[in-house]
Amino acid sequence: MHFDAIGRVPGDPILGLMEAYAQDPNPRKFDLGVGVYKDAQGLTPVLQSVKLAEQRLVDRQGSKTYIGGHGFAEFGRQINALVLGADSPLIAAQRVGATQTPGGTGALRLSADFIAQCLPGRGIWLSNPTWPIHETIFNIAGLKVSHYPYVGSDNRLDVEAMLAALRQVPKGDVVLLHACCHNPTGFDLSHDDWRRVLEVVRSRDLLPLIDFAYQGFGDGLEQDAWAVRLFANELPELLITSSCSKNFGLYSDRTGALIVCTRSAEKLIDVRSQLANIARNLWSTPPDHGAAVVATILGDADLKTLWADEVEGMRTRIAQLRSSLLQALEPHGLRERFAHIGEQRGMFSYTGLSPEQVKQLRDSHSVYMVGTGRANVAGIDATRLDSLAEAIAQVCK
Ligand code: LMR
Repeated sequence: MHFDAIGRVPGDPILGLMEAYAQDPNPRKFDLGVGVYKDAQGLTPVLQSVKLAEQRLVDRQGSKTYIGGHGFAEFGRQINALVLGADSPLIAAQRVGATQTPGGTGALRLSADFIAQCLPGRGIWLSNPTWPIHETIFNIAGLKVSHYPYVGSDNRLDVEAMLAALRQVPKGDVVLLHACCHNPTGFDLSHDDWRRVLEVVRSRDLLPLIDFAYQGFGDGLEQDAWAVRLFANELPELLITSSCSKNFGLYSDRTGALIVCTRSAEKLIDVRSQLANIARNLWSTPPDHGAAVVATILGDADLKTLWADEVEGMRTRIAQLRSSLLQALEPHGLRERFAHIGEQRGMFSYTGLSPEQVKQLRDSHSVYMVGTGRANVAGIDATRLDSLAEAIAQVCK
């Protein structure tokens, strides 16, 4: 038969955890797997600002016709301003354009095909470790994938090793950087580190691709954009993948953008013609709803304020969970050992737990996290921190 030679591949390491967690009958289970924000009730609710925007759309939306290869133009304008700042000189000079994509993952896929087709021969450099789908997306697009170190054997950010490796990258290659809330480690570069990376990027004539999936979850909506804006203002060309999954809670609406910055307004038109062509062959035109919601929120002063407050609420809750977990670990003599949890940013913590300890946590305590020891701090149930700390202490014995 036609399909006889087709074998089975292992399930996705992150999405598979969602399923395993759902099937676990233990009522005292912990979901620290997939990167989804949960509130104090353990729910991932629709943001109030989103609900209000959706109500407006239901009342006012008159058509569901296709929205064009680059998506909804107002969404593109708003997302450029959110990412680069409304007063960005690039916006004024028409040197920046957003192509709406199905989520941040769609933006990454579009960037991968763009590099493969329009910049042939360029390799891409990913941090080690990185989000596993970075590896597969660029591989599938046919790019040569290489790595620069990011975290040392002591489970701490190793900027010197990162810079030393980047200095050896062939001129013209693409380097993928995480704007903030590094996935999976939670370790972010300081402003000084970013300036040093920028110098290497400039001297090696590298093309940065900045993955910006967690704007607002690190230090704040504006603060988290600092490195992206530095690179956009200092370099003639830049690719940025932006996601609305986390900060707008629009996970299932698949809303994101590939933002491209070019050296001139004219070059932008060339590059965007290529992006529209590639997108047409990937998904034709992007889904509309999430982008319409985002544009509605960002285009209305009251909704935008409400939304920014909601993002800030999620951000501060995650930061609080980090310090509460450390407090809960203290009676077990583990506060020092896990002090990095307090220094990391965003949803994720590279805990330093080994794959065996992660397995033991899952098998014996129904604590679900990614095998590499990545925990989604935003998934912690604050009312059961003591039992989580107890479980961690058991596997650390
Ligand atoms: C994660 O890393 O958990 C998130 O980015 C969700 C995903 O798609 O993997």
